[in-house]
Amino acid sequence: MKILLFGAMGQLGTELQRTLSPYGEIAAYDIHNLNLENTQEVRETIRLVSPDVIVNASAYTAVDQAEREAEKAFAVNGDIPGLFAEEASRLNAFLLHYSTDYVFDGRKGTPYLEGDTTNPLGVYGKSKLAGEEAIQAGNANYLILRTSWVYSRNRNSFVTKVLEWARKQEVLSIVSDQVSNPTWARTLADVTAELLGKGLDYLIKRRGLYHVAGNGYASRLDWAKKIIELDPNKQEQKVKEIRPALTSDFPTLAERPLFSALDCSLFQSTFEIPLPKWEDALKLAMSE
Ligand SMILES: NC(=O)c1ccc[n+]([C@@H]2O[C@H](COP(=O)([O-])OP(=O)(O)OC[C@H]3O[C@@H](n4cnc5c(N)ncnc54)[C@H](OP(=O)(O)O)[C@@H]3O)[C@@H](O)[C@H]2O)c1
Repeated sequence: MKILLFGAMGQLGTELQRTLSPYGEIAAYDIHNLNLENTQEVRETIRLVSPDVIVNASAYTAVDQAEREAEKAFAVNGDIPGLFAEEASRLNAFLLHYSTDYVFDGRKGTPYLEGDTTNPLGVYGKSKLAGEEAIQAGNANYLILRTSWVYSRNRNSFVTKVLEWARKQEVLSIVSDQVSNPTWARTLADVTAELLGKGLDYLIKRRGLYHVAGNGYASRLDWAKKIIELDPNKQEQKVKEIRPALTSDFPTLAERPLFSALDCSLFQSTFEIPLPKWEDALKLAMSE
C-alpha cells in the first residue's frame, strides 16, 4: 500500500510515520518540504506519488492565532481537505482525515454524538468544519475522525506546558470549566494503523465521520492534576498547589467550547477497536 502522509512533523504525524510504516511505503510531507498553501504543487505531488491512501494529519492548529489569520486557517483546514478529496476520488484512493471537537459550541451538556448540530465558536472550528463539509461534498471514499485535546510529549502541548509550569511556579491556576477527552497522539496513530490493517474494502463499507478520542472525559484541572501526579521526575517540581480557575479568568482571542467531550461509542462498535481510557494512555505517555 502506498501511503501519502501530510503533516508528518506534527504531534500526530510524527507518531503516524512510525505506526503506519508496517502497512507500506510512506511518502511524508510537512511544511518544510511542501507548503499546503501552494495548491498547484500539492496537486502535482499527489498525482506524482499516486497513493492508495492519503492521510491528512496536517492542520492550522493555532486556535487563537487563527482569529487573526482566518484566510490561512481556511486555506489549510477548509480548502485543502476538499482538494485532497478531489484528488483521492480521481485516483480512487482512500482519504483519512482528522477533525476536532471545536466544531461544537459546548452547550449540549453531555458528550457529543456524530450527528449532533455543529456550531463552532471560533475561526479554527469554523475552518475545520469547512474541511469536513468539503470532503463530504466530494465523491472520495473517506474517514473523518473527529478527535479532541491531542497531546504528545515531543511537541508543545498541554502536557508539556503543565510539566513546564510545575517546574517554575508554586501555585498553578488551571481552568475547571473546560471539559473534553484528553487524547494521546499515539493512541490516534495506533487506531489509524489498526484501521488500515483492516483493509481498504472494509473501510470503504464503513466510510463516514466518527468520533475517536481518549475514553472518558475530564476538566483541564483534573487533567493537569493527573499530569503532575504521573510526572516521572517529580523531584524537579516546584508546584505546591493547583487552584481551580475559570475560562473567563484568562481572556483569549478565540472563544473555546466549554463542554466538548466526544462520545466515541459508534467508532468502537463499528470498527471493533476499543479506545483506551484517557488516564491509562496518559500513564503510558508519562512513563516514556
Ligand atoms: N491539537 C489538538 O488539541 C487537536 C484537537 C482536536 C483535533 N485536532 C486535529 O488533529 C489533527 C492533528 O493535530 P496535531 O495536534 O497533530 O497538530 P499539529 O501538531 O499542529 O500538526 C499539524 C502539522 O501541520 C503542519 N502544517 C500547518 N500548516 C501547514 C501548511 N500550510 N503546509 C504544510 N503543513 C502545514 C504543521 O506544521 P507547523 O508545525 O510548522 O505549523 C504541523 O506539522 C489535526 O487535524 C487537528 O485539527 C487536534
